[in-house]
Amino acid sequence: MAQSSVMDKLVSLAKRRGFIFQSSEIYGGLGSVWDYGPLGVELKRNLKDRWWRSMVYARDDIEGVDAAILMHPKVWEASGHVAGFTDPLVDCRQCKNRFRADDERIKGTPGAPDAQCPVCGSKGTLTEPRMFNLMFKTFMGPVEEDAAIVYLRPETAQGIYVNYLNVQQSSRQKIPFGIAQIGKAFRNEITPGNFIFRTREFEQMEMQFFVKPGEDEHWFEEWRAWRMQWHRDLGIRPEKLRFHQHGPDELAHYAKDAYDIEYEFPFGWKEFEGIHNRTDFDLSRHQEYSGKKLEYLDPATNERFIPYVVETSLGADRLALVVLADAYREETVEGESRVVLKLHPSIAPIKAGVFPLVKKDGMPEVATRIADDLRARAIPVFYDDGGSIGRRYRRQDEAGTPFGITVDGQTLDDGTVTVRDRDSLAQERVASDAVVTYLQDHLAT
Ligand code: GAP
Repeated sequence: MAQSSVMDKLVSLAKRRGFIFQSSEIYGGLGSVWDYGPLGVELKRNLKDRWWRSMVYARDDIEGVDAAILMHPKVWEASGHVAGFTDPLVDCRQCKNRFRADDERIKGTPGAPDAQCPVCGSKGTLTEPRMFNLMFKTFMGPVEEDAAIVYLRPETAQGIYVNYLNVQQSSRQKIPFGIAQIGKAFRNEITPGNFIFRTREFEQMEMQFFVKPGEDEHWFEEWRAWRMQWHRDLGIRPEKLRFHQHGPDELAHYAKDAYDIEYEFPFGWKEFEGIHNRTDFDLSRHQEYSGKKLEYLDPATNERFIPYVVETSLGADRLALVVLADAYREETVEGESRVVLKLHPSIAPIKAGVFPLVKKDGMPEVATRIADDLRARAIPVFYDDGGSIGRRYRRQDEAGTPFGITVDGQTLDDGTVTVRDRDSLAQERVASDAVVTYLQDHLAT
């Protein structure tokens, strides 16, 4: 399959099946902003739940928070975002398009007479690069003046730093400990694109782990390994995952060391999670700008220090694209072609399709009872009695539903149903009153 066609097919499947729609589509859409439909919202919630469970519930050294999107504007001065969260930007004077200065499509050096606009092809019309801040600004209160400027947060991490002592003291954690948060972030990206890969509004799942200076490199290595394993446990093909260590010219202003976890998307290897050693940069800056002491008092040694931070930062939307791209397969089975999303059962939006083979002989009643039993246990199912059983299976394959439960003639004789596995296509007979337990066992992660 051609690389771009895989993305086209994914975008079209996402729309057709209700995973992801373009924002404000009836008005022509809003650039690089996307909405999640009925299946997409479940997929994303399942990803976020899985992350939250592994960070907050499965460990006793990480607490959760949900900080506000709007923060005191000084936060972004302290964090370095006002001064440094910029991309170099060039304009084409001819066609008025705007590009990042490092856009690979630009031929020549922007500003020079030989530089060529990648859209209209004009030569010498590209301006010299100018720095452009990626933070969205708005005004707080009724007066639109500079003093009222607030920013939509470009990362969730700062909401954790400014609360780290509140959390530490209220939860009585001792260093090393972490704080996890899931929330929206906003960046006025100059060249967003590739569907939900780079958008202007997105969600991050970030965890900041506070450690004693000197122990940061050890924890950095631990978190690097744990995060890669997490993606493997999610069923992402290992050969599509790799680390990329930031070179000196790639490191963010706050980082001493950083690794990206990259996935081989149809458009190439790209980052979807970052693991950063942020040292004491953020807490020291907040201490300086707020005038409030942010030191930790070690109860064992009576030492005071500003902790170092190891950060893991994962985009929920970008992860959704990873799992969709990784799960998407076109196969020929039993002489017929099918499109299937081989999503890990724990993140599949619908866990089972429930099908009466025919709409008579009591089969719909049994199938309805099974569907109701599953729904009563908060297992999302889809009841479908329309069309041939093959077509019904195919519809669920495309939605990533891991199991198909069919009530047939034999059910009425011996009380069993068939359970079809989406990936192996194996079918086994299970007592209809054991279907709930069967699914609970097979959906456990
Ligand atoms: N707090 C650190 C931080 O924000 P980052 O590398 O800029 O680091 C972390 O972003 C992750 O957030 C990325 O790996 C990606 O998954 C996600 N992300 C960043 N910008 C994004 C965008 N414009 N659209 C979608 N996801 C984005």
